[in-house]
Amino acid sequence: MEKTFLMVKPDGVQRNLVGEIVSRFEKKGFNLVGGKLMTISKDLAETHYGEHKERPFFGELVDFITSGPVFAMVWEGENVIATARTMMGATNPADAAPGTIRGDYGVQVSMNVIHGSDSPESAEREISLFFDEKELNNYDKTI
Ligand code: CMP
Repeated sequence: MEKTFLMVKPDGVQRNLVGEIVSRFEKKGFNLVGGKLMTISKDLAETHYGEHKERPFFGELVDFITSGPVFAMVWEGENVIATARTMMGATNPADAAPGTIRGDYGVQVSMNVIHGSDSPESAEREISLFFDEKELNNYDKTI
């Protein structure tokens, strides 16, 4: 079954949006298989966002994502990578449709509430950066 990495960013944690965001993915029907509140180190932030290293906003991006706790998650389900991206909305909250997470809760592109893997390759890379295999749970839903 497909898995993706999602992370409520420091702005989302500070604004008490963790429960709301978890609830949206639960209600959609995806399975939460891993989750933890953590403060990201500078090293981990630079590795995670490595593809943006040459961008002018890279420093700001690393400073922001390490500025306070994030809620890192692994979700599982059919087409969860693409569907989670749809549910998150456009990267820039100004362009994100109402009803999406960023459309409903975000204002600035640098503080856009949530991160989600954009491809199967990123999902695999990001899950293994943030989680040990033993932190991921397997369960069969009985109801
Ligand atoms: P995310 O999905 O976490 O992946 C990279 C992040 O870079 C993106 O969300 C935005 O929060 C951030 N980002 C993209 N463009 C800009 C920008 N012009 N200025 C600041 N941050 C940006």
